[in-house]
Amino acid sequence: MIRACLFDLDGVIVDTARYHYIAWKALAYELGFEFTEKDNERLKGVSRMASLDILLEIGGVKLSSEKKEELADRKNQNYRTFILKMKPDELLPGAEDFLKELKSHNILVGMGSGSKNAMTIVERLKLEPLFDVIIDGTQVTHAKPNPEVFLKGAEALHVEPAACVVFEDAAAGVEAALKGGMKCVGIGSPEVLGKAHMVVAGLSEMNYEKLMQLK
Ligand code: G6P
Ligand code: MG
Repeated sequence: MIRACLFDLDGVIVDTARYHYIAWKALAYELGFEFTEKDNERLKGVSRMASLDILLEIGGVKLSSEKKEELADRKNQNYRTFILKMKPDELLPGAEDFLKELKSHNILVGMGSGSKNAMTIVERLKLEPLFDVIIDGTQVTHAKPNPEVFLKGAEALHVEPAACVVFEDAAAGVEAALKGGMKCVGIGSPEVLGKAHMVVAGLSEMNYEKLMQLK
């Protein structure tokens, strides 16, 4: 029985993954090294500080924790200049239709994002009415691949983890869903998201009937 769907935000509902990438790339450039799109895969779904650690490891750079705080903050300021300009049409194709279809079948809809900027995006794109519950990075102690964000979502919806399906574009997020005892649909490439129960290129490929195949 599937009673709820929990959606990651960045890269699933909105195309912010590219803004994160641009902001990290600018920081790497400042530090004097290249940061490729392939490198960026490792940062998807990963918390801000853990992302910076991976970036610095790629560049072979060691810094004090004070300096790291400063750089993470600078990256975030840069990232925010992009999201503050986002328009409602930046919802990824199929997202709104699928969420509405779920509601019409009485499936509960939640958001489980590790981002501390999630609410800014929710406000800019007026996403609140699409969700029954929103859990973001300000409400969790443990980042993905820890399942906390999804478990909190399930709890707030009063649904057992086994009756939840998570939609994720990041390997760390797929791992979090599975650790939480939930089903998972990967959004992106099977190479990266192979552990998910099903992988689709985007939410435009999803519908209620396909979801029910996961039962
Ligand atoms: C999401 C994104 C990551 C990002 C993380 C924290 O999981 O996929 O790329 O690092 O959120 O985002 P924040 O907005 O708090 O820096
Ligand atoms: Mg994501």
